[in-house]
Order: sequence, then structure tokens, then C-alpha cells
Amino acid sequence: MFENLKKVDPQLYQIILSEIERQKGQIELIASENFASLAVLETAASPLTNKYAEGYPRARWYGGCQFVDKAEDLARERAKTLFKCEHANVQPHSGTQANMAVLMAVLNLRDTILAMDLACGGHLSHGHPLNFSGKFYNVIAYGLNKDTEMLDYDEILSLALKHKPKLIIAGASAYPRIIDFSKFREIADKAGAYLLVDMAHFAGLVAAGLYPNPCEFAEFVTSTTHKTLRGPRAGFILCRKEFAKKIDTAVFPGIQGGPFMHIIAAKAVAFGLALKDEFKIYQEKVIENAKIFARYLQDYGFRIVSGTTDTHLFLVDLLSKKLTGKECTLLLEEVDITVNKNLIPFDSKPPVITSGIRIGTPAITTRGMGPEEMKLIADFINTAVSNKDNPQKLREIKSRVKGLVKEFPLYPEIRTGQ
Ligand SMILES: Cc1ncc(COP(=O)(O)O)c(C=O)c1O
Repeated sequence: MFENLKKVDPQLYQIILSEIERQKGQIELIASENFASLAVLETAASPLTNKYAEGYPRARWYGGCQFVDKAEDLARERAKTLFKCEHANVQPHSGTQANMAVLMAVLNLRDTILAMDLACGGHLSHGHPLNFSGKFYNVIAYGLNKDTEMLDYDEILSLALKHKPKLIIAGASAYPRIIDFSKFREIADKAGAYLLVDMAHFAGLVAAGLYPNPCEFAEFVTSTTHKTLRGPRAGFILCRKEFAKKIDTAVFPGIQGGPFMHIIAAKAVAFGLALKDEFKIYQEKVIENAKIFARYLQDYGFRIVSGTTDTHLFLVDLLSKKLTGKECTLLLEEVDITVNKNLIPFDSKPPVITSGIRIGTPAITTRGMGPEEMKLIADFINTAVSNKDNPQKLREIKSRVKGLVKEFPLYPEIRTGQ
């Protein structure tokens, strides 16, 4: 693999090789990452990247689209089957662009949206002041209940009735529990608002039937394809038929030009794989691993936000360990365990420091790891945190991590020779 690149651009070839080695050689716990299948990687690297196809199947601005039309049709049909919805737009280049298209489709500048506070687990594109969503719209944020660290639907209702948003957004980047979409639907109806569910994180769980399907409750559902869904880096939008034209027009020509046909084809492959029985088994393991992992860390005295998880991710409060999220991320990086620092609810530290880390199990489950490995990794984390100033101990853990990842080879077909 990469033989041509090696000849043409040895410098970049080396960078890619190093990154592949990094992925193979560490324990990946970033909740928003996964390892796409080789079939997805092959499709994403295919000559479909050459094709301009502005527009939609059978209504393109360019000739020669007869085959990419078929690829986009497949992606749309598979998405509709997978999520039991009426219309799918598979062109958004990312989750943020999927959200942008929905906001552009139904809102006017300065309209009010009600969305989850970033500090409580929301996403940038749900109204952060530096993001288009925070600059173009009037954003009201809802948070979490301080005692339960879970969504407080009464508070969301009272904010909705007070501010009368035109759109309510449910969905988050760091919320470990199941979101009650029926409650959000009720609130949206009472406030006369549209409901958008951003399922970027838990789309794979929805596809497997292990998380409520937001398409039953919301006018609009957005997602990424590269997290629990194990597809290429991209986004998509699902909606009811009555909004199909509005959404399609918002994506193109509203916010995007030519679609990435190689990535759309790779989305079709990922949706196809997600329709198989094995995918459900995989997602069951992802959730089981997350629950067990969180419990082992609790046994070592780590506080888990809201006490547990229902999903593929959980948040660890490091306050009692006298470590910030930033310090913990750097410490674990030293022993080849990759996590991200994360605000915990009502965090007193700034987002660049944080009091917590976020842990996710999609990537390690893709490698084939199970409950026994969760126990080992929890032990590695605890030992690293308890011996943060002991270089010898940290070297020992790093070597144990090396041994563990070797037992669960990643992309054995891609040889790096390093
Ligand atoms: C809830 C949510 N929505 C949207 C996105 C944005 O995805 P992208 O990075 O593809 O723009 C993310 C990414 O982490 C997310 O967590």
C-alpha cells in the first residue's frame, strides 16, 4: 500500500506511515473516533474523488454522473432503511455542515434556538459564540441538573416557554445517558418549535436499535458518519418528506458546492455494513465495554459523571485525583493511551484545562477488546495516575500497553514495515 506515494512524495509517505503506526501502537479512547473498515478506506481513496457532481442524482450540473448517481442513491436508500426515515441527504461534508444546513433551512438570521450548553456536553455547532451558530442566531442554553448531572426536562420546558425558540436542539458530544426524545418532542410542541436531534455520537447505537431512534420524534436529525457508525469522516441529514426540498436546497447550493462522491460512496459502504447483524453485536459490545470500564475505574476511586453510562462514552471527574483533564491527557499520552480532556458539568476550570476526561469504547471494541481488556486498561490508567511522578512505573505501563495492542492488531493488511 502507498507504493506510488512513497515514490512521488516520500516526505508525506513517512508522515502517513507514522500516523498509521501511532494508531496501531496506542489504546484509542477518544469517544468520537473509530477505525473505519478497509472497505470504507478503499472507497474513500477511490477515483470517485475526481468527479464533479453538483446537484443531486439525475439533476446534476455536470455530465458523466451516471455512476456516482448510483452511489449516492445507494447511500440515501441505505440511510433511510437504517434509520427508518423518509428522506436522507448524504452530501454534508461534516457534522457541523449538516447542522448548518438545517439551521439555514428553517431559521432566519437572529432567530432564537435553544440548545445544550457546551460546558455541559453540547457541541460547538449548537451555538458556541465563536461558531456560525452563535454568531448568526440568538442562542439560549440549557444545562444539566446539578444533583443528577442529567438533563432536566422541566428546566428545558420552562426555558422553551419563556424564550419561544424557533428550533430546539437535542444531542451532545459528551452526554453519557439516554436522551428522552419524546420529552423533547413534547417541549417543542408546547413552545411551537422545530426539533433537531444531532445524533453524531450515538448514531451507531441508533442504527443497532440500542438507543431510541430520533427520527420517530424530530423533524430533523443530523449526524456524523465517522464516530460510532465507523464510516468515513463526514455528515448526513435525515428528515421528513415535507422538508426534503428545503434541506436539499440548504445543503446545495446553500452551503456547499460539489459533493465528495468518494466519501458519499464510502458512506454507502458504512451504512451497508451497519445494516448487518454483526454491527448490532459490535454495538452491544461497545456499550457493555463502556459500562464495565466505568465500573472498574469507580472501583479505583474515580468519580464517573452521573454515576454510569448508557452509551459508548463516559466522563471521569479527576478532582479527587488532584489532576486536571489537561494533565491527565498528557500523562496518558506518555504511556500510549489516548483520551481527551473534557469539561465536567459545572466545571470550575476553563475548557483548555478542565477537571475531567472523556472516555469512549468504539475504537477499542473495533480492535476486538472486551471486558478483560477493560479491566486491564482501567488498571493502566489508575497505575499511571497514581505514579505520575514515577518514570520507571510509567515506562512499565507503556510496555504493557505495547503488549496489549499487539494482541489486537489493527489493519494487519496495512504493513508499515516500521
Ligand atoms: C454532537 C456533535 N455534533 C456535531 C459534531 C461535528 O462533527 P464534525 O467534526 O464532523 O463537524 C460533533 C463532533 O464531535 C458532535 O459531537
